[in-house]
Order: sequence, then structure tokens, then C-alpha cells
Amino acid sequence: IRILVLHGPNLNLLGAREPGIYGSVTLAEIDSMLVAEGNQLQAEVKAMQSNHEGVLVDAIQAAKSEYQGIVINAGAYTHTSVALRDAIAAVKMPTVEVHLSNIYQRESFRHHSYIAGVAIGQISGFGVQSYRLGLHALIHHIRHSN
Ligand code: DQA
Repeated sequence: IRILVLHGPNLNLLGAREPGIYGSVTLAEIDSMLVAEGNQLQAEVKAMQSNHEGVLVDAIQAAKSEYQGIVINAGAYTHTSVALRDAIAAVKMPTVEVHLSNIYQRESFRHHSYIAGVAIGQISGFGVQSYRLGLHALIHHIRHSN
């Protein structure tokens, strides 16, 4: 199984960015943790980050031919991007939405997700573990849904 992990805007700053909310782990550390976790589950994980909505749309479209599923933390685009939602709907790939913080505990503008309606499910609030749990959930879904 091949899984694409997509990180949206500002997640390249993890470790330095609002550590009280997002923790001190860097994005590179998260990615290597997910690759290792994937190995244990016989899955190949590739991660990429972009601050640009269109680059993320392109990555989702291109994923169709190479990956069986997507783990996405769309960052602030979660709350704004119909384009990302439409891209996920278009490729019809199983997608798990993750967030480091619990978006429902925060400002009301973070309570709505455009991604949620096209995702298998959402994991929010467990810090770095949200990604690990999301990866597990996605792989389990892929292995047990056919
Ligand atoms: C986030 C939550 C979003 O509201 C925020 O814009 C982010 C990070 C999270 O992982 O908690 O950039 O997706």
C-alpha cells in the first residue's frame, strides 16, 4: 500500500510556530515518524508540504495513479477551500483528515471543515499522534474495505 501524507500552509513552521498549540515537534520529525510507522504496517508513506492551494490540488489529482489513500492536514485551507474538497471528491480516494489541535475547542471559524464531508473520517486534537492514528485508520480502511 502506498499512502500520500499532505501538509498544508504554515505546517512547514512546526516546532517554532505557536508551540503552545502545535507542540515542539518539527515537520521533518513527523514525516520520518510516519515513514517508520508505515514500514511497520507494510505501507510506503510519502509526505509533502505546500503553502499553495493549487499545488495541493495538483498533488491530490496526481495521487490517483500512485497512491491508495491520502492523509491530509490542510491547515487553514481546511476552513476555506472548496477546491481541495472538490479535488478529493474528484479522485475518489479514501482520505483521512487530521489536525494537531482540537479545532472544535478553538475559534469558531475553525469549527467548519470543507474536507470533512469528503473524508472517511477526521482525527483532531491529539498532536503528532493525530497523524499516526490517521495513518493507522486509513490503512485499516483500505485493507478491510475490499
Ligand atoms: C490545524 C488547525 C487549523 O485550524 C490551522 O489553520 C492549522 C493547523 C491543526 O493541525 O491543528 O494550520 O490544521
